[in-house]
Amino acid sequence: MKGIILAGGAGSRLYPLTLVASKQLQPVYDKPMVYYPLTVLIASGIREICLISTPQDLPRFRQLLGNGSAWGVSLEYREQPRPEGIAQAFLIAESFIAGQRVALILGDNIFSGGDAFPRAVAEFEGGATVFAYHVHDPQRYGVVEFDAAGRAISLEEKPAQPKSNYAVPGVYLYDEQVVPITKATRPSARGELEITSVNQEYLRRGQLHVRRLPRGFAWLDAGTSTSLHEASAYVQTIERRQGVKIGCPEEAAMRRGFITVDQLEALTRTLPNCEYRDYLANLVTDSRRLGAMA
Ligand code: G1P
Repeated sequence: MKGIILAGGAGSRLYPLTLVASKQLQPVYDKPMVYYPLTVLIASGIREICLISTPQDLPRFRQLLGNGSAWGVSLEYREQPRPEGIAQAFLIAESFIAGQRVALILGDNIFSGGDAFPRAVAEFEGGATVFAYHVHDPQRYGVVEFDAAGRAISLEEKPAQPKSNYAVPGVYLYDEQVVPITKATRPSARGELEITSVNQEYLRRGQLHVRRLPRGFAWLDAGTSTSLHEASAYVQTIERRQGVKIGCPEEAAMRRGFITVDQLEALTRTLPNCEYRDYLANLVTDSRRLGAMA
């Protein structure tokens, strides 16, 4: 399965932070926001990744992430000149998708805990897979309604009167129908190609799979100054308590076997002295010790 990170948008709700650097480049505690969705894709075993952003911001993402070889993945870049909806990503990246299965992740969605995404990717058998997460403010999101048997029966984008508390987070898995379905989709009243419209079509075809994320799982929003700060505080709390990082692509790449421990060590040596380097150096030592014990 291929992967797309959508990191577009004006980031106007984070003004003035976003005057010179896009939302997905802002720090979430100790790393840029885009590291978190990138790590989700790597941890899910996805090696071919396309990042979509605005023409102004794309050079910064290239500078930050390069061609992905540091993490044993290949990274391509595509421009979204105007923010015309999440589903537009499939039209922009059509040649990258090239009729394959694809995972889309939004560049401002931060997840922590569990193996729901790697499992869903491994078990994907076609159609579309989306996730459902219980929130207190569903009207801000795509909302999924379930029947008594737990089957998804409706999807709505930002409904004024939500039919449930289950929001659809910004991670979606699709088969090869996604490009033709998107092409047949009409823009919504706000002039955007809605990801919810694509998911509604899969639902209509009886091919939408909805997986509920467990309550111990964290899905954090980082779209406003307040929620960005809260996301940073959450990541800091967990990382300091556990001594384990959230959203560390180097670690995910090593654990997934995309890079060897030797490659991780070589990469670590190129970093300046900082906490991030210390963390990776410890990871190298621990992996060698555990490898020696096996
Ligand atoms: C978008 C989608 C919405 C989804 C949300 C997840 O909303 O339209 O269905 O629940 O992302 O972050 P937006 O963030 O563009 O308002």
